[in-house]
Parts: sequence; structure tokens; C-alpha cells
Amino acid sequence: MPQSVATIAESELLDGEMKTWFLPDGTRIALYHVNGGFYATQDTCTHENASLTEEGQVEGDRVICTWHYCEFSIIEGTALNSPCSEPLQTYPVTRVDGVLHVHY
Ligand code: FES
Repeated sequence: MPQSVATIAESELLDGEMKTWFLPDGTRIALYHVNGGFYATQDTCTHENASLTEEGQVEGDRVICTWHYCEFSIIEGTALNSPCSEPLQTYPVTRVDGVLHVHY
């Protein structure tokens, strides 16, 4: 059964920003605010495990891992160029009374 966890207030994440959060099982995720929407993906790059919130850059609706310059779709998790081929896991995000809830 899907579960959700409350994270930060949407006002704490400006458009174009990302932040780290942890699911209750310790999984590290990245929260994003891009193009007016809120999204979440796994924080670990699928190439060689860099932290996207520490080593990545948001450009439009893509996150770029600066270790080897893989680009991923923040919205769909898709790997957009080599050397990455594995997608990022994505998590639905909803807003409840101004707070972002991640469903996992
Ligand atoms: S670790 Fe992210 S591109 Fe290589």
C-alpha cells in the first residue's frame, strides 16, 4: 500500500531549486521545484552514485550530474544522455496545506 511522508513547506523550495530529504527507511531523495511544479527523484545518480543534490545542477526540467555530465529528466526520471542509461526512480509529490508530501 503506498505511503506518503510530509517534507518541507513549498515556500522553502524556490523555482529552480532542489533539496535533500530522507524517506522513513533512510532512502535519500531529491525534491525539486521546476517550472512551477514539485517533483522528487532518488538522490543517487544511477551512474556512479554521486549525490544529485550535492553534485548536480538543475537546468530547466533536467538535473545534470557534474561527475560525468549525465542529464536526467526531473519529471520522468529518464536518463537523457550517455554514459547514463538507467533512469532515476521518481516519487509523486502532492501539496497539502502548503506542505510537500512525497508518496513512496
Ligand atoms: S556519477 Fe553521475 S554522471 Fe557519473
